[in-house]
Amino acid sequence: MRILFAASEGLPFSKTGGLADVVEALPKALVAQGHEVAVVLPRYRETKATAVVMPSLTIPMGGTRLRFPAIADGTLLSGVRYYFVDDPAYFDREGLYGGSTGDYPDNAERYAEFCRAAIEISKHVWPADVFHCHDWQTALVPVLLRTSYGDDPLVKDTPVVFSIHNMGYHGQFTKDVLERVGLPQALFQPSGIEFYGGVNLLKGGLVYADYLTTVSRKYAEEIQTPEYGYGLDGVVRDRGDRLVGILNGVDYAAWNPEKDKLIAARYSAKDLSGKQVCKQELLDLFGLSHDHLERPLIGIVSRFADQKGFDLIAEKAHELMREDLVLVVLGTGERKYEDLFRALAAAYPGRVGVKIAYDNAMAHKVEAGADMFLMPSRYEPSGLNQMYSLKYGTVPIVRATGGLDDSIEPFDVEHGTGTGFKFKEYSGDALLYAVRQALHHYMDERIWKRIQLNGMTKDFSWKGPAAEYAKLYEAAREVRGLGQVAQNALQAGQAAGQGRAKETKSQLRHLIEFDKES
Ligand code: ADP
Ligand code: GLC
Repeated sequence: MRILFAASEGLPFSKTGGLADVVEALPKALVAQGHEVAVVLPRYRETKATAVVMPSLTIPMGGTRLRFPAIADGTLLSGVRYYFVDDPAYFDREGLYGGSTGDYPDNAERYAEFCRAAIEISKHVWPADVFHCHDWQTALVPVLLRTSYGDDPLVKDTPVVFSIHNMGYHGQFTKDVLERVGLPQALFQPSGIEFYGGVNLLKGGLVYADYLTTVSRKYAEEIQTPEYGYGLDGVVRDRGDRLVGILNGVDYAAWNPEKDKLIAARYSAKDLSGKQVCKQELLDLFGLSHDHLERPLIGIVSRFADQKGFDLIAEKAHELMREDLVLVVLGTGERKYEDLFRALAAAYPGRVGVKIAYDNAMAHKVEAGADMFLMPSRYEPSGLNQMYSLKYGTVPIVRATGGLDDSIEPFDVEHGTGTGFKFKEYSGDALLYAVRQALHHYMDERIWKRIQLNGMTKDFSWKGPAAEYAKLYEAAREVRGLGQVAQNALQAGQAAGQGRAKETKSQLRHLIEFDKES
């Protein structure tokens, strides 16, 4: 099958968060399973392209306005074809989504152009059997295919799978955006993309895609509730029969302590000795003394956003630091959290190391050098770091939400099973309790090694998730009448009338409901 990914970020070209990891790894895994995959990304400032595929594409915006992005070729990497939408006025900027003063005010225009260009790529450059779109920035692909492109013989039936990586980001704009980006006014209604008097692009993806996915089973349940749905839980519930939760995987080519060139020493489940060398290097890099080598070291690598639960750390910071531990934090984002961690480092010099930075090599070093990895998220659609941590023998302490709940099993001392420590209630006390449990078990070397090995031997590769996505692409083709079952039905219907059609309908239902059975 030919799958065209449209996403606002993807490694190795652009990244602000886990979406970029997914957009790199899932296409590779699909190619390994025999599919053809192309990925369309914006050409941002740092993105290098190798050739021009189309020097000028005509993209209608609102009114009589047109834009003329080029389509650049980003070469073939691990069998995946890359295309970039190249419009320097829109994408050659300091940040991906915003600068020092916040989100760019023309984000609706930028990503509307991007979505139209992705559709045009499928028409003129790389015909797709199915689109796979990600988050609000690409939500206009299904909206446009079923409205403005509704009569286009080339793409009107191309199915769309839309993945929700984060319900907290809506792409919310004022009503005039319809005119500014050239969307039909008819979309402005509660069953369309209207949302409390404004325009909500994420909602467009939720309403118009053939299938919805999100990045863990637990989060698929959570977003159907008011607590996690950010006002869109009703829309998600309405589409509940087309929503599937598929936990993200790990790209073990990039995240594996046996092969990782970014860490001080390689190690494995068979021989963990290199991990101590990594811990030593980590202490050095954060200006902490080697005296701490035997103390438990808790690591954090994160975007600093409300989602990540750092207010719990703020609430219990001093009680936490009363424990015999060392804390290392790498992250950037909201000012209040940067200030929080800077203040902690100042209050506990020599015991708290903080780097306010985005640094991939350092992220690997924290994963390898820490003993525990803390993710107290308020919500976490999937989360990748906790799964990276497992592979590095770094025991996760997580809140039981979304993908954190799906990927981490609580340690059970009686049976020696489990991979980490979890707390459920969103409270500082619950967090503290889980940390203390981890610290307690750290004291017993034998038990600690058991927990580490339980995690290191887990397999969270992309193989399983990629196969699930492939089934879903097939199901999406079926519901658009393009898949094998539907085609057989058509032929059978023509040959033998209504009787067979019934039978095929039930086959179709079986295909669609695979996720509930598996
Ligand atoms: P989210 O996408 O919500 O930020 P994930 O856990 O899915 O959370 O993915 C985060 C990704 O970004 C991981 O690959 C992580 O290593 C990386 N990352 C986050 N913050 C930093 C940072 N300050 N420096 C380097 N990498 C970071
Ligand atoms: C989002 C989520 C994160 C998830 C990532 C990739 O940024 O916050 O939990 O792992 O997308 O799907």
